Amino acid sequence: MEPMTARSAEHDARADLISYLDFHVEAGVDAALDERPHDRFAEAEAAAQAPHPEPAPRREPAPRSEPSARSEPSARRDAPSGEGAPLDFRRELPSRDPPPREPPRTYGNAAGAKPGEAADDARARAAEMNTLEELEALLRGFEGCSLRFTAKNLVFADGNPQARVMFVGEAPGADEDRIGKPFMGRSGQLLDRMMAAIGLDRTMAYVSNVVPWRPPGNRNPTPQEIAICRPFVERQIELASPDILVCLGAPATQTLTGTKDGILKARGRFYPYRLRDGREIRALATLHPAYLLRQPVQKRLAWRDFRMLKSALDGSALAK
Ligand code: URA
Repeated sequence: MEPMTARSAEHDARADLISYLDFHVEAGVDAALDERPHDRFAEAEAAAQAPHPEPAPRREPAPRSEPSARSEPSARRDAPSGEGAPLDFRRELPSRDPPPREPPRTYGNAAGAKPGEAADDARARAAEMNTLEELEALLRGFEGCSLRFTAKNLVFADGNPQARVMFVGEAPGADEDRIGKPFMGRSGQLLDRMMAAIGLDRTMAYVSNVVPWRPPGNRNPTPQEIAICRPFVERQIELASPDILVCLGAPATQTLTGTKDGILKARGRFYPYRLRDGREIRALATLHPAYLLRQPVQKRLAWRDFRMLKSALDGSALAK
């Protein structure tokens, strides 16, 4: 047998590193959150050993989703990702790092602002936008949600803003982030087929998401991130002014209709949705295409919902 050369050792080390990276990507860890690696175990150990001159401040318990929401099917599994509460352990660890460089890598809340303040700021600024183009430009410059720092692109909308029907999903995935448009991956292809089944395509529908930036690793957006982004999607709905809103999945349904019901209970119903100009439109809750990809047997429920949508749209032109 040949003795192991330096070159073959290097080759093996490289192959090990590549398979280690592949493992992470498969596990959904596919976004770098900082330019430097952090050894969180070492940090935790150092923190535990460091003297505490003052009693540690009491920590708020991590926000929990409603039991009804927790038991609901999660739509965000186009790529492998964790379900339920995001694994956001970086907030739990006292940091010994120097202050972050620009842009700040806060997780889930506004750069330098408390989440509530960021949501108020978002609402005030969104309200001043008079066109969808202005709103998109505002979002391009908005730094109040740290998802924008990990995302490659803003994912604002696709389709026809003049359409009478608007579909709203949860948040972009990897394909959408790369392309900069919503529903471009496998979920998007299924959505297109569902629309085609009732005679719609993207020239006859407007498509968007509650959160316009991809959460890293396809994790679920946190309640704080949703709260910060919500004023933008609400303004987007007002400016597009569709006759019918279709909420795809539990997060969009709960965010836009206010229901606490899980999606299997909420779906197949029209909810009143009031625009700021006083006009009341209808919001139909249905299952998210990503969920249907995992549970194809549930497509029959979605089909019922889409038939309701078709009946609601029938008898009138699809473009305003
Ligand atoms: N899932 C969503 O909720 N939105 C997208 O744009 C893609 C997948």
